[in-house]
Amino acid sequence: MFPLRRRPVSGRSGVEWTLLILAVGTTAGLATAAASFDPLSYVDPLIGSDNGGNVFAGASLPYGMAKAVADVNGQNTGGFATDGSQVTGFSTMHDSGTGGNPSLGTFPLFPQYCPNDVIDNCKFPIGDRAVGYVNSSVVATPGYFALSLESGIHAEMTTTEHAALYRFTFPETTNNGSALHPLVMLDLTDLAQSRQNASIGIDPSTGRIRANGTFLPSFGAGSYRSYVCVDFAGADVYDNGMWVNNRGGTEPKELFVTRGFNNFYLQAGGWVRFGRPSNGVLYARVGVSLISSDKACQNAEKEIPQPTSDFDRIRQAAESAWRKQLSPVSVQPGGASEDLQKMFWSAIYRTMLSPQDYTGENPLWESSEPYYDSFYCIWDSFRVAHPLLTILDPSSQSRMVRSLLDTYKHEGWLPDCRMSLCKGWTQGGSNADVVLADAFVKNLTGIDWELAYEAMVNDAENEPLEWSYQGRGGLMSWKRLNYIPYLDYDYLGFGTNSRSISRTVEYAYNDFCVATVGKGLGKDNYTTYLSRSNNWQNLFKPDQNSTINGTDTGFKGFFQPKYLNGTWGFQDPIACSPLAGFCSLTTNPSETFESSVWEYQFFAPHDMATLIKMLGGPDSFVARLNFFHTSGLADIGNEPVFLTVFQYHYAGRPGLSTARVHSYIPSSFNASRDGLPGNDDSGAMASFTIFSMIGLFPNAGQNVYLITTPFFESVSITHPETNRTATVRVVNFDPTYKNVYIVNATLNGQPYTKNWIGHEFFTQGMTLELTVGPSEEESTWGKAPEDLPPSLSSVLSSSVSTYEQGF
Ligand SMILES: *[C@@H]1O[C@H](CO)[C@@H](O)[C@H](O)[C@H]1NC(C)=O
Ligand SMILES: *[C@@H]1O[C@H](CO)[C@@H](O)[C@H](O)[C@H]1NC(C)=O
Ligand SMILES: *[C@@H]1O[C@H](CO)[C@@H](O)[C@H](O)[C@H]1NC(C)=O
Ligand SMILES: *[C@@H]1O[C@H](CO)[C@@H](O)[C@H](O)[C@H]1NC(C)=O
Ligand SMILES: *[C@@H]1O[C@H](CO)[C@@H](O)[C@H](O)[C@H]1NC(C)=O
Ligand SMILES: *[C@@H]1O[C@H](CO)[C@@H](O)[C@H](O)[C@H]1NC(C)=O
Ligand SMILES: *[C@@H]1O[C@H](CO)[C@@H](O)[C@H](O)[C@H]1NC(C)=O
Ligand SMILES: *[C@@H]1O[C@H](CO)[C@@H](O)[C@H](O)[C@H]1NC(C)=O
Ligand SMILES: *[C@@H]1O[C@H](CO)[C@@H](O)[C@H](O)[C@H]1NC(C)=O
Ligand SMILES: *[C@@H]1O[C@H](CO)[C@@H](O)[C@H](O)[C@H]1NC(C)=O
Ligand SMILES: *[C@@H]1O[C@H](CO)[C@@H](O)[C@H](O)[C@H]1NC(C)=O
Ligand SMILES: *[C@@H]1O[C@H](CO)[C@@H](O)[C@H](O)[C@H]1NC(C)=O
Repeated sequence: MFPLRRRPVSGRSGVEWTLLILAVGTTAGLATAAASFDPLSYVDPLIGSDNGGNVFAGASLPYGMAKAVADVNGQNTGGFATDGSQVTGFSTMHDSGTGGNPSLGTFPLFPQYCPNDVIDNCKFPIGDRAVGYVNSSVVATPGYFALSLESGIHAEMTTTEHAALYRFTFPETTNNGSALHPLVMLDLTDLAQSRQNASIGIDPSTGRIRANGTFLPSFGAGSYRSYVCVDFAGADVYDNGMWVNNRGGTEPKELFVTRGFNNFYLQAGGWVRFGRPSNGVLYARVGVSLISSDKACQNAEKEIPQPTSDFDRIRQAAESAWRKQLSPVSVQPGGASEDLQKMFWSAIYRTMLSPQDYTGENPLWESSEPYYDSFYCIWDSFRVAHPLLTILDPSSQSRMVRSLLDTYKHEGWLPDCRMSLCKGWTQGGSNADVVLADAFVKNLTGIDWELAYEAMVNDAENEPLEWSYQGRGGLMSWKRLNYIPYLDYDYLGFGTNSRSISRTVEYAYNDFCVATVGKGLGKDNYTTYLSRSNNWQNLFKPDQNSTINGTDTGFKGFFQPKYLNGTWGFQDPIACSPLAGFCSLTTNPSETFESSVWEYQFFAPHDMATLIKMLGGPDSFVARLNFFHTSGLADIGNEPVFLTVFQYHYAGRPGLSTARVHSYIPSSFNASRDGLPGNDDSGAMASFTIFSMIGLFPNAGQNVYLITTPFFESVSITHPETNRTATVRVVNFDPTYKNVYIVNATLNGQPYTKNWIGHEFFTQGMTLELTVGPSEEESTWGKAPEDLPPSLSSVLSSSVSTYEQGF
């Protein structure tokens, strides 16, 4: 989303882009032994745990609400990071891959010994208690996380849907010859220290801790209340009490804290000490809830009834759940490296951590519909993350769409970003519209499409008073002038009045999505939205040039801001690119969001034919794309770049998309801990990796996948509902990726010349065979005008439309 800590991106100016030659990996071992192949052995949750990937590296079920991990005091947006920082606690709710402020991390536990067994010798405040961990002790696998603190205490954790089981092993320690009592404290805080007021109570005989508190969402408005219930097992309770700042005592047993003068932040919480546990093993069972502490206790009791004996069972259940999620996919690597396989399976895993399934835990309204949270943010996830779930887990994707619609029903608006029960800040358009259109053209089942159209029309027609977190701003101008003006005069609603260019191009695509669903449902007014979907053209300034340090790039024609009176404003086309500094809602707000005019210039996903014409035709377009990707202007670490990697397809050069993707994988996406170029954003970077590697890249909102050469000899995906298996196979597969250009193709044995394919490929289980050779220029496959993906203008001007449910 919006990386706060960005490493300087070195320009690749002038560097000739060539295919990276990968080392040929070994085919021995698990990869070829299909019978014993366990995809979990290829999942490394620590990929992206450094360098701003911000992935959640801990234990979770697929879409699980409980997410347990060690929290650190470094790059802790997802809780844990391998950036050399120290552990401050172990908490049970997290998000994955988000940018900006750390998310959740409510009510961390922290185990320690108090020197000389004196309570005040224990370290309570977060800055005092932070402790390093042994690098080599970190174990992260699906459903399990463990590390050893430098204090000698070993911590392991696994999770169910709404509860975590922590297993702390305390080393034998004595002071002055007498054994110390292990202590576990709970801090009434979260990762961002956003706590407002909070309460905690301890049952003195059992040591059960119940707590609740009000916290702030990490990228949204309002606040949310979180509840926890902690039980201990494996040792006798010795004593317990509360702590405030760096002092503790056995009284009181209940405490309320609030924020006083100047929002003063008091550090406080509770603690329990124990007799020596057998083998030093103490269990902490943590139930979480957004409804009540009672519910948190019930969740824990139901899901983890026997804390002292459940650990292995729960871990195995989590592993089985993950194996099932990965089971639709199978790969024949054909000599592709172990690292590429690791990246691939780990990426699939990461796409199913978030959004979280909070069904039954939504205190905001009563409903029998599913409730998912942490759509964080749809600006990031509409492009590839949701389309990936539509293929691999359509029933969960359908439930997510239903949750979006239920949110519309009860809060009046589709979310654009949502986390921790709160409305999140909108980054561009009303991009839930794209998620809905994508689900519609791919025949996702179980969705009330009349309600969906109503919600989309609401985005397109009605301006909310507060459009920072829902709907769209500037709708008066949108309807009257057909663009979002620079410095708009808008008294209907209020929002961050920037981003006029990026909002214009996104609103235009959103309207195309409204039209898509409207037409499919037989609504006669869809044509209004279809014509508004051309609005992006109104910010195109044909004579605008672009210079970098005084040198003309040679490209003419760019989007520019336009005032209400029709006069052009100016934004340097390279502004907000990696060459020129970052622009977000608050940092350097500009007419483009988190990306440059250069990058947004390619955003007309529904009408690339017109865009290519505007930019001087296919050759000039290809030259511009090449320059963009090699000059340092492209920001591969943020989502708007994704489609540009594949847009050569629309200019009749599909082989160049294949070549381009190899310039980014594995140099920018790889299997190392710093192997993500930006925030994973709830699996958006992961989904980009997967689609790139299977050779079918979605143009979200349309029934279109752009065909490139897979990184593996073959990939098969069994549709979980139709049970049909779709296979992409490369004939003459070359694991050194020199012979990588498609020479010809067959679909179910018949010659296939289109450079794209629809979702029927997956639902009907087709077989696509791609024969590859060494030369892009000599290949004619997928280059003819009739073989290009559909574009609004070309389809409208052609009587023969193969564009199902399109126009
Ligand atoms: C542990 O890993 C971190 C991050 O990679 C590194 O900074 C630190 O030096 C390592 N510590 C040791 C003892 O190797
Ligand atoms: C032994 O215990 C006493 C009383 O708690 C303390 O003052 C003293 O520092 C301890 N000695 C050592 C070596 O830890
Ligand atoms: C706690 O804070 C929330 C949010 O500021 C507020 O609504 C609530 O009334 C407070 N509760 C108490 C007991 O002060
Ligand atoms: C929060 O916890 C305190 C202490 O257990 C309890 O008295 C209070 O009722 C709880 N508040 C809510 C809203 O559950
Ligand atoms: C969606 O359903 C329609 C009607 O059954 C069918 O014609 C179309 O091929 C389906 N599309 C996909 C992507 O499966
Ligand atoms: C299209 O129809 C919907 C009702 O289905 C209505 O709410 C909306 O305002 C109409 N849009 C236009 C542009 O007429
Ligand atoms: C680029 O455009 C600016 C402003 O229109 C103009 O001053 C400049 O001469 C142009 N540069 C080139 C190389 O065309
Ligand atoms: C522009 O020139 C400055 C100063 O020479 C240099 O630091 C910067 O990297 C250059 N920028 C680009 C995009 O080449
Ligand atoms: C249009 O408005 C802009 C911004 O207020 C102003 O700079 C410009 O001169 C105006 N153009 C005309 C033709 O009035
Ligand atoms: C792996 O990806 C990261 C993030 O993009 C990059 O910084 C690093 O150089 C890559 N490593 C290799 C070996 O290509
Ligand atoms: C899917 O196909 C497999 C293999 O043919 C079969 O064992 C399984 O029962 C099928 N499942 C469904 C839901 O049709
Ligand atoms: C595809 O191309 C290869 C290599 O030129 C050739 O051997 C094969 O017959 C072709 N297949 C089809 C279906 O055209």
